[in-house]
This record gives sequence, structure tokens and C-alpha cells, in this order.
Amino acid sequence: MPKKIFVTGGAGFIGSAFVRLVLEREPDTQIVNYDALTYAGNPKNLEGIDAARHAFVKGDICDRKAVLDALPNDADAIFNFAAESHVDRSIYSADEFLRTNIIGTQVLLDAAREKGVRRFVQVSTDEVMGTLPEESDAFFTEASPLQPNSPYAASKAAAEFVVRAARETHGVDTVVTRCGNNYGPRQFPEKLIPLMIANAVNDEPLPVYGDGKNVRDWIYVDDHCRGIWAAYERGASGEAYNLGSRNERQNIDVVTSILDALGKPHSLIKYVTDRLGHDRRYAIDATKAEQELGFRPEMSWENGLRATIDWYLNNREWVEEIRSGEYRNYYQKMYGSSLG
Ligand SMILES: NC(=O)c1ccc[n+]([C@@H]2O[C@H](COP(=O)([O-])OP(=O)(O)OC[C@H]3O[C@@H](n4cnc5c(N)ncnc54)[C@H](O)[C@@H]3O)[C@@H](O)[C@H]2O)c1
Repeated sequence: MPKKIFVTGGAGFIGSAFVRLVLEREPDTQIVNYDALTYAGNPKNLEGIDAARHAFVKGDICDRKAVLDALPNDADAIFNFAAESHVDRSIYSADEFLRTNIIGTQVLLDAAREKGVRRFVQVSTDEVMGTLPEESDAFFTEASPLQPNSPYAASKAAAEFVVRAARETHGVDTVVTRCGNNYGPRQFPEKLIPLMIANAVNDEPLPVYGDGKNVRDWIYVDDHCRGIWAAYERGASGEAYNLGSRNERQNIDVVTSILDALGKPHSLIKYVTDRLGHDRRYAIDATKAEQELGFRPEMSWENGLRATIDWYLNNREWVEEIRSGEYRNYYQKMYGSSLG
């Protein structure tokens, strides 16, 4: 019997990578991909996939009726990727983050219950756990308290609480995954790595927040998606799993690696006023996922960064189309200068 899954936010960066991975590796799985196509959703992210096993429905996860109409009666799982996902935008205006990330998650949980969906997978983030001291060997584990510092992280932490409540109150079978910073093809160009690649390619300044020494734990997007699938298949109900590839990097090192790979001068780096409430360090201990799910990241940082840079170099129209739209206004607002 083919398995049906309901993926929300599957036209975004990670959701579309997940859809591709599942279609490629799980031949008996059919996908309903439900996405509102906000500024971050892009139908082009789904070009070339197997249309026979993938149905796209445009809709908002906060729209209860539309969700119930789109959710198949016999869905085995909901994977909730749909979210407002950019910290900088949440600092500027938080309303949409609370609406989509919290209310939308509640609507999906209610729909899962009403339609008897077997398992609900909530795609969360390490940012719910706040920040770690810079000079330490502390790591985020599943026992770390939820201490979000940005409106985005607060909305994702609140989403985890509504997921927990649905399980404790109504017995919905839930699993939560918490991952660090993803990189790879098709990431919206406002995020660090694609932004730096695009600016470097165009010989534009590369804006680096503060002293550039904030540390992030980077994982290749397909490794994250494999971890989500493993949590769906093998995770224990009600548990959270941290997903990471033990790849801590300072932002400035990421930026100089990109410049070096493209043969561009470090003089393109331009330090800009730090982000408000900027978390200093994220680092994930993925031992639980490794032991209980058999989670093993496959991509090295060097190969992953090279593959990512190559993808952006080979898909210039994808980037330029976005950079010519609404994104221009956003860029001006954030960095006070125009895109060339
Ligand atoms: N990017 C990362 O590094 C990272 C790390 C850990 C966790 N996550 C989580 O992974 C998920 C996906 O992140 P991403 O980077 O792919 O984000 P993204 O911004 O690229 O994509 C989000 C997608 O959700 C859709 N969407 C937004 N609001 C919606 C709504 N109300 N109804 C239906 N669809 C809606 C958008 O159209 C878009 O396709 C998010 O939940 C995010 O919190 C991201």
C-alpha cells in the first residue's frame, strides 16, 4: 500500500529538499505538499520532481477549512515545515511569526486529530534553546531548557509547547526535531550563505554582523532531511531529537571560505551593526539521534559548501529573479544600501 504524507512548507528551502529526498528514496510514498507560497516559497524549487507522486496545494496552515480539505483521510504523517523562518524579519515585525508558527501549528494538530493522522512531525530549531557561552564546551542537548531570545525562536518554542499539549491532552502521536543552521541549494538569498555567495559573485560588499565571531552549527540540508525522516520512522512518541553534524563555525570563517572559494578579496567584507539580541553560539549534541535513530550526517562541510556554491553559480536566474523582487526593499531596510 502506498503511504501518503502531508508536507507543509514544501516549496521552501528545507521542505523542498525533503520532498525531493522522499520522492527519490521512498518509492511507495505519495506526497501532498501544502504551502502558502509566501515570499520564501518558490514553485521553482519543485521543478523536475516526480509529479505522479506529488500533489501541490496552495494554502495557508492557519486556514482550518483549507487544511482539512487538503489533508488526505488516510495520511500517515504530517511534516510541519511551514513557518516564517527569518530571525531578522521577526525583529522587524513579529505578528506573522506568531500567527503562522504557533496558530498554524495548532490548526495542523487539530486537523491531524480530526483525520486520525498516525504521526505529527514538528520541524523545530536549536534556536528555541537560546544561546551558549562562547568559550565553553557546552552543547545543546534535549534536556536543555527552552530559552528563546528572538521573536522567531519564541514562536518556534511556543509551537513546541502546543505540540506537547496536543500529545499530553489529546494523545496525538508527535515527534519534534531540532536542527542547527542549514545550508545547501535553494535557500532564500537573505540567509547568510546564499547572501554572501550572491554578493561576492556581484562584487558587492558582504555585510557581516558585529565582530563576525558568532558561532553557528552548520548542517547540509539533505542530512537534516534524512534526520527528519529517521525521527518519523524510528523516533519515540513525544520525544525531541537534536540534529547536527558537529560543525561549529564562526560567521567570519564561513564568509572568508566563500570568498576564497570564489577567488574574491577579503576587502569585500563590511562589518555592520550587530543584530539585536544576537545569540552568540549554537552547538548541538546529536548523540540521542545518533544512538536512537541511527542518524549519521553524510556530507562534509568542505564538500557541502562547494556543492552549494556550485549550485548558486549554475542557477543565477533563480537568484536574480528573487533579488529583483520584493527582496530589494527588505535588503535596503536591513543593510541601508541598495543591491546593485
Ligand atoms: N533554515 C534553517 O537553517 C532551519 C534550521 C532549523 C529549523 N528550521 C525550520 O525548518 C522549517 C523550514 O525552514 P526553511 O529554511 O525551509 O524556511 P523557508 O522560509 O525557506 O520556507 C518556509 C516555507 O513555508 C511556507 N509558509 C510560510 N507561511 C506559511 C503558511 N502560513 N501556510 C503555509 N505555508 C507557509 C513558505 O511559503 C515557504 O515555502 C521551518 O519550520 C524552520 O523553522 C530551519
